[in-house]
Formats: sequence, structure tokens, C-alpha cells
Amino acid sequence: MRIAVTGTTGQVTCALREAGKGADLDIFHLGRPDLDLTRPDTLLPALKALAPHILVSAAAYTAVDRAESEPELAFAVNATGAGALAQAAAVLGVPIIHLSTDYVFDGTKPSPYAETDPTGPVSVYGASKLEGERRVAAATADHVILRTAWVYSTFGNNFVKTMLRLGETRSLVDIVADQSGCPSSAHDLAKVIIAMAEKLCGDKDPALRGIFHVAGSGEASWAQFAQAIFATLEARTGKTVSVRPISTAQYPTAARRPENSRLDCQKLERLYGLRMPDWHGSTETVVKALIDGRGDKTQ
Ligand SMILES: NC(=O)c1ccc[n+]([C@@H]2O[C@H](COP(=O)([O-])OP(=O)(O)OC[C@H]3O[C@@H](n4cnc5c(N)ncnc54)[C@H](OP(=O)(O)O)[C@@H]3O)[C@@H](O)[C@H]2O)c1
Repeated sequence: MRIAVTGTTGQVTCALREAGKGADLDIFHLGRPDLDLTRPDTLLPALKALAPHILVSAAAYTAVDRAESEPELAFAVNATGAGALAQAAAVLGVPIIHLSTDYVFDGTKPSPYAETDPTGPVSVYGASKLEGERRVAAATADHVILRTAWVYSTFGNNFVKTMLRLGETRSLVDIVADQSGCPSSAHDLAKVIIAMAEKLCGDKDPALRGIFHVAGSGEASWAQFAQAIFATLEARTGKTVSVRPISTAQYPTAARRPENSRLDCQKLERLYGLRMPDWHGSTETVVKALIDGRGDKTQ
């Protein structure tokens, strides 16, 4: 099976490439300048050359705070670009798995969000991703919109790397404790995406299409997530870093974040038989890899 993935250095793109190694899969990544989501004319030619069996749309404008001052660029990539990519998939006659986000919700629901819950983004990034979902769905029925959350890995930029960097110089960090979510390892996510791709290519069942939620099992606040990261750091190196829980109001950011980012992933389990592992073990694996120098620590 040939899988084309958008993006070059992105967390999910890199994790997919890693997961594909050794498996009976050809995973190709396509990024700028050959494939640029702000230049829809680049999409079809770049994809045609690869003749993929399925497309994974993992590239996105992901700078959540910067999007507040760059809404045109965020929408160009996440809405117009995503829609054009889905149109290209339709022309090629292949399914598309499009990555989306928990930030399409307003976060006021007291329990985990299901696929059928009403959306209501509270940031430009969330609004641009929601518009992308709509455009993907309008472009082709042969799509999966895969919403995930709080992604971390040994690749790219993420919360785990930020905590380890802070831990190099500090023994106490203030971390927001009143937002909850499901930390999701891109390495676990890549395995789920590959299993979904294999199923989608061989099964035309409409029930396998549409919106799905996928995230690490369990839940945490950012402060609890940080505590778990520092617990592994301490066990591995002896270095102690304490977490002081603070409120969102004490840590102002350009973009608002949903208070509740937890995703209910039962639909994925019911229809695909897939479930991501508990986030504690996956976080420990990623932290250990980064401490031992097995990850890309430069970014
Ligand atoms: N990170 C999270 O916590 C999180 C949470 C929920 C959902 N998601 C979604 O999950 C997906 C993957 O996220 P991620 O964390 O892997 O993202 P990431 O590490 O920030 O990587 C983003 C990727 O998008 C590419 N990109 C940006 N603008 C582009 C353009 N104009 N044309 C082509 N490629 C472009 C980047 O290309 P270069 O390689 O050239 O820089 C990079 O490969 C995204 O759809 C994101 O919205 C992420």
C-alpha cells in the first residue's frame, strides 16, 4: 500500500514515516515547496506523481497563538488548503484521512466530547480547522476526519519537549491545572492511522467514513501531564522539578483554549476496533527516548 502524507517535519508525519519502516508499506511525505497548501495548484501534480492508494492530511498551520494575528494564513492552509487536498483525493479516486483537533469545541461540556457534539471554536486556529473539516467533507464522501488532541512525540515541537527544556534550568514550574485533555503520542497515533488506512482501502463501508475522535486513553490537566513528565525525568536522571498548579487566568495567551479538551473515542473502538494506549506509559516512553538522546531534541 502506498500512503502519501502531507508535511515534512511535522510530528504526525515523522511518526508515520517511522511506523512505516519495516512494515509492508510505502509511506511518502510531501511538503513544501513541492506541495504547498497555500498554493492549491501544487497539490494534484505532486500527488499524481506518487499514485498513492490513500492520502493522510497531516500538514497544517498549527501555531495556535500566532493564528490570532495571522487569520488569513491559518485559513489559507487549514481551510482552503485542506479542502483543495480533499478535492485532489477525489480526482485521484482515493480516500483521505484528514487530521483535525479538539479545538473545534468550546470546552464547556463537562464530559468528553463525542463526534456528534456541537462545535464552537474559541480561537482562530480552531475555527480554521473546523472550516477545513467542512471543506474536506464537501469535497469527497470518501473521507475520515480524525480529531485528536494534545499531541506529543520525539519529533517537532511539543509540551513534553518544552517541559524537559524548562527542567534543564528550573526546579519549579508553574503549569495550568484547570484545562483537561487527553495527551496523545504521535507514535501511537501513527499506528492507528496506518490501521485505519489499511481498512479504508479495502472496505467501502460508509460507516467507516466521517468524523472520528482518537486520543490517548485516560485524561489529565496540563499540570498532571507535566508532573508525569518530571516523574520520569527524576527516575531517569535524579533531577527533581516540582509543578505549581496555576489557573488559565494566571497564564494569559493570545488564543483562548477550551477548558475541556477530552475526546470520547468509543466510536473508533466500536467501528475499527482501535484504541490508543493509556497516556502515562506512552509519555514515559517518549520522555525516556528524549533523555537518552533517541529523539530529535533540537526543535
Ligand atoms: N500538535 C497538536 O497538539 C495537535 C492537536 C490536535 C490536532 N492536531 C492536528 O494534527 C495534525 C498534525 O499535527 P502536528 O503536531 O504533527 O503538526 P506540526 O508538528 O506542527 O507540523 C505541521 C506540518 O504542517 C506542515 N505545513 C505547514 N504549512 C504548510 C503548507 N502551507 N504547506 C504544506 N505543509 C505545511 C509543516 O511543514 P514543514 O515540515 O515544511 O514545516 C509541518 O510538516 C494537524 O492537522 C494538527 O492540526 C495537532
